[in-house]
Amino acid sequence: MELTNRLKSVYSLLPEDCIMIDVGTDHCYLPIYAILNEKVKRAYAADVRQGPLQNGKENAAVYGCSERITALLSDGLQALSEAQQQDIDTVVCAGMGGTLIQNIIAAAPFLKNKNKTLILQPQKAIFELKEYLAAQGFEIQKEVLSKEGNKMYQCMLVRFSGKVHTPPNPFALLKSDVLFDEYAAREKRRMQRQKSGMEQGGIPDKERYHQVCKHLKELEEML
Ligand SMILES: C[S@@+](CC[C@H](N)C(=O)[O-])C[C@H]1O[C@@H](n2cnc3c(N)ncnc32)[C@H](O)[C@@H]1O
Repeated sequence: MELTNRLKSVYSLLPEDCIMIDVGTDHCYLPIYAILNEKVKRAYAADVRQGPLQNGKENAAVYGCSERITALLSDGLQALSEAQQQDIDTVVCAGMGGTLIQNIIAAAPFLKNKNKTLILQPQKAIFELKEYLAAQGFEIQKEVLSKEGNKMYQCMLVRFSGKVHTPPNPFALLKSDVLFDEYAAREKRRMQRQKSGMEQGGIPDKERYHQVCKHLKELEEML
């Protein structure tokens, strides 16, 4: 079995021998691949919808992993028992919007624990997610970029430190990635387009405009 580049980048951040949960698992490819490659001891695969969960279960059976993957019908982490919350040390949320990931974390206070690792791969609202994490005392410790076709993704490893802090430059941890120059050029063009679009429209949303200017400046500091 092969993973796509995006899921490979998620896999690369999994701690060795962890007990993971893949929230929003869909096809269950990440837990299956991690079990087949002996990167994780056991896995939970959760999805809010029965269809994708069933699909994931069938894939786990095809690859002979059913005994080491517990499938859960769950909205975020809500269906976990207390024992399961303690059992799991690594929580993956990949291929979802940043706002949904934020809601999943907010509804799971047990994640405010220095021994839990979060691997987050938001598809959008990434700056907002980073701001939320800082405000809640979570620290982003590592970030990686990936590319599939014409699309680029970022994935982060996060742990709770308990220190509420001002979010650092959101591009700082990406700078050492081999894909950074390409990513930075795209982001710069995207934000410049946004900024001039807002200026042409008379800046209807001043807060949004200031956010874009701030992120553009932060990116330029990294170039
Ligand atoms: C686009 S798929 C991503 C699949 C996989 N994680 C990946 O990165 O390739 C998103 C999955 O998240 C599930 N999902 C959406 N909201 C959820 C929630 N609140 N709790 C659990 N799963 C959710 C959807 O049913 C869907 O299967």
